[in-house]
Amino acid sequence: MSAAEVLLERVRQDGAINGQIVKVDQFLNHKVDPVLVHLLGDDIAARFVDHSVTKILTAETSGIMLAQAVALKLQVPFVYAKKKRPITMPEYYAAASYSFTKQESTTLYVSKEVLHASDKVLFIDDFYAKGSTFKGIEDIVTQSGAELVGAAVIINKSTRRDIESILTLDDLI
Ligand code: G4P
Repeated sequence: MSAAEVLLERVRQDGAINGQIVKVDQFLNHKVDPVLVHLLGDDIAARFVDHSVTKILTAETSGIMLAQAVALKLQVPFVYAKKKRPITMPEYYAAASYSFTKQESTTLYVSKEVLHASDKVLFIDDFYAKGSTFKGIEDIVTQSGAELVGAAVIINKSTRRDIESILTLDDLI
């Protein structure tokens, strides 16, 4: 079975779809199935083997384990943008992001020590909904002078097709 077929079956078995919201907290973003995460990560990584990726970039929280899986397969480090700036991060890139799902604004922070102009960056996340997280990440990559070479999520709920995904909302309904 392909990664998409496995995920689809899992959503049908242990998840739910309520309008535009896909419930995945039994296996992806609360209770996490590491075997599934690695299957999904390997599938995404395979699409970017020829993109000379040097760094994976994601945002706290749910993107982290997916970024780890993709990064392991591509053998590159991953960075997760933090939503609170620690005092140990004096020099940073910052960008605003508004979560429509949670109806709150957040700021994403990435230390200048972990993202450089020479980097080729792949953005990874669990969902692409309105794209506000991606917009914030694009902003941070621009500030750093790095190059964004791709973007991939597990479930793309938008009509954008330049974002790689395992499933789209159409696959689920
Ligand atoms: P956007 O970044 O693409 O604009 O998406 P949006 O603001 O709508 O969603 C932001 C948050 O909501 C993200 O989590 C994302 O993972 C989550 N989300 C979006 N759509 C769904 C969905 O259908 N189901 C579930 N379960 N979650 C969804 P976050 O606030 O960035 O942080 P975290 O939860 O990873 O900590």
